[in-house]
Amino acid sequence: MLLHIPNVLSAEELAGIRRQLDAAQWTDGRETVGTQGAQVKRNLQLPDTSPLKAELGKLILAALQRHPLFFAAALPLKILPPRFNRYEGGGTYGFHVDGSVMQLGNGEQLRSDVSCTLFLNEPDDYDGGELIVNDTYGEHEVKLPAGDAIVYPASSLHQVTPVTRGARIASFFWIQSMIRDDARRRMLFELDASIQRLRSGNADNDAVLQLTGLYHNLLRQWAET
Ligand code: NI
Repeated sequence: MLLHIPNVLSAEELAGIRRQLDAAQWTDGRETVGTQGAQVKRNLQLPDTSPLKAELGKLILAALQRHPLFFAAALPLKILPPRFNRYEGGGTYGFHVDGSVMQLGNGEQLRSDVSCTLFLNEPDDYDGGELIVNDTYGEHEVKLPAGDAIVYPASSLHQVTPVTRGARIASFFWIQSMIRDDARRRMLFELDASIQRLRSGNADNDAVLQLTGLYHNLLRQWAET
């Protein structure tokens, strides 16, 4: 499931993050990829050891925690500490797949089920820089307003097209979901959305209660915790 999550960050949070990132030291993004990725990756990242990366990452995780749509879509079990990248001067990341198992740094591992990109500057600030995601329904082109995020299956082939004017600044990270299977996660998301709609209308309370019970029983059947 490819889903647009609007308004993850407020205008004030965005301005603060941008101010700090504008003054940051960036390094070659090839430091964090394997051989296949390194051949097609041309961008800059905050180093993994950067205190700024850790600080801004916490702020983003806190914003995600309070976003009901993100939670409903990803059903997160673990989230990789957010990373930050910058594409400029033709910077690009050709078609690749993301690693399936990642180190969390505390000895724990994370299986990447869901990929997330959070856009940190406006689409008008740069030309190119579209995120292209290939899934079973074809090719999707994504370029979102600052503060908005896209979540998509980590199993998909994807690329970032060359940035030919300005700079594209984003945060990106992966989620291990309680629900490993994308189709099951999508069904739970759709059921949850229907329950929310019924609840905000004048629906029969008993029917809403029954559907809510069904949602939780499916989650109980399928969730890994
Ligand atoms: Ni990727």
